Amino acid sequence: MNTIVVYYSRKGSNKFLAEKIASHLSCEMEAIRPRVDAFFLFLMKVHFGIRPLKHPVGVYERVILVGPIWMGRFVPPLRSFVNKYLNQINRMVFVTCCGSTYARKDEKFGHGLVFEEVKRIMGDKLVLTQAFPVGLVLPDDQKEDPGAFMKTHLNDGNFKGEIADRFDKFMDKVA
Ligand SMILES: Cc1cc2nc3c(=O)[nH]c(=O)nc-3n(C[C@H](O)[C@H](O)[C@H](O)COP(=O)(O)O)c2cc1C
Repeated sequence: MNTIVVYYSRKGSNKFLAEKIASHLSCEMEAIRPRVDAFFLFLMKVHFGIRPLKHPVGVYERVILVGPIWMGRFVPPLRSFVNKYLNQINRMVFVTCCGSTYARKDEKFGHGLVFEEVKRIMGDKLVLTQAFPVGLVLPDDQKEDPGAFMKTHLNDGNFKGEIADRFDKFMDKVA
């Protein structure tokens, strides 16, 4: 399926994930570029939108959108992308490297609530969601420690074990 990976990443984990997905699919990839990339403004819900993508989103059968979750929210750069390109997106998969674990996905800051929000925006165009909690690469006693997962970023050295297994299963579904 003709696919493009579109991502936003501040600290690199979602960029790493996006690159891995694009490389497995040998497909195009593009970063979302906010007009003003100011994290503290995003957290205050002040956002000036994104620059137009270089790729024509509408020609792809599928967009794989990759990006983080902050404060239990669908973050402004991703939200702007979806709002701007909603009519052109044919099918979308949403993937996040986030802090919330699978066990806590439906709690206030959990990725499950964000997935529901994306579903409300995208309707049937959203065909698949997948979270890769960063705790998957941490030892058991640090998996839910915010101090530990905030400091941890995905890279070739730690992308092994459970996260790599889950990634392979995800890629089977996507392929
Ligand atoms: C200010 C802040 C708030 C966050 N809030 C959440 C949250 O509510 N839920 C969650 O699952 N992860 C949360 N996270 C964790 C990020 O989603 C996680 O660190 C992500 O991997 C960062 O992606 P990046 O490296 O691509 O920027 C938060 C991170 C930051 C910095």
